Amino acid sequence: MSLELNNSTSLPNRWHLLGIEGKSSDEILTLVDSAAGFREVLERDIKKVPALRGKTIVNLFLESSTRTRTSFEIAGKILSADTINIGSSDSSVSKGETVLDTAAVLESMNPDVIVVRHSASGVPGMLAKLLKRAAIVNAGDGLHEHPSQALLDLVTIKESLGKVTGLTVGIVGDVRHSRVARSNAFAHLALGNKVRFIGPSTLVPREFVAAFKSVDQKNSVEVFHDLEKGLAGCDIVICLRMQLERMEEHFVPHLEEYSREYGITERVLKLSAPNAKVMHPGPANRGIEISSEVLDGPRSLFHLQVKNGVATRMAILFHAINGLSADIISRKGVVANS
Ligand code: CP
Repeated sequence: MSLELNNSTSLPNRWHLLGIEGKSSDEILTLVDSAAGFREVLERDIKKVPALRGKTIVNLFLESSTRTRTSFEIAGKILSADTINIGSSDSSVSKGETVLDTAAVLESMNPDVIVVRHSASGVPGMLAKLLKRAAIVNAGDGLHEHPSQALLDLVTIKESLGKVTGLTVGIVGDVRHSRVARSNAFAHLALGNKVRFIGPSTLVPREFVAAFKSVDQKNSVEVFHDLEKGLAGCDIVICLRMQLERMEEHFVPHLEEYSREYGITERVLKLSAPNAKVMHPGPANRGIEISSEVLDGPRSLFHLQVKNGVATRMAILFHAINGLSADIISRKGVVANS
């Protein structure tokens, strides 16, 4: 078990969510099941439960976000926590304060959880090591991980297909720059699924696979540079955004050409993966990595992903404050049926 407990002895239950790498299938499935439980609250007339009453959650978003930031805020509010949002332009980071100093200042005000998004890989991990009290939740750090996205994707797959195991998952596009690709790949490999990275060699370098070797005991990771071959037999297609803001050089000759070769369209899906469901973490570039016909069509899980983001983040905040280990112990023996 790889729970990263805070080193504070007075707060033994605090649980950091820094990434999916190293998480066991038990931990992942416990979080997925918890999220499914919280989803019922979202259907009520009065969407409020006292689970985190008296707790304080700081959402420190030093990189732009629509879905993640809003859903963490809504999740905290539904759980009756006090939530405070801080962005880069309205924090003293814009005056030159370091992220560590900013986080230490915030921790002096005794929040229970700090949810952090940052363009630099490793910031949430650094805060978890250096801060003493608050649980740290990674809301996306640079090229590293986006664990809450992978978890909400699993919740969505379970709702759509009725299972999260026995799957072939194609991850298509700008894998090189994608924290969503990394977190999803670690999650699916932990669950024993097959993972295919599909895209041009510049965006899906074969070396990328090396990062997954430690958890890929069954050789479940494959690389495809041909879209149609890669999609053949996929149950789930995760379409990635071209992350132009993270590219320091040109990785494709032209976006139009990329779109012709690797864009997800109904035509290619009908040909190669007629039953596949399509996911996109958003924000989507319509007409580049995915056609509007697919994004808005019946096989798209795009809006269900956003909806499940709230319940998933409710589960994450709940466990960040209350811990996860007892829940994992209680699900031993039922994992095989999940
Ligand atoms: N998927 C995702 O992280 O979206 P936002 O950048 O809008 O939060």
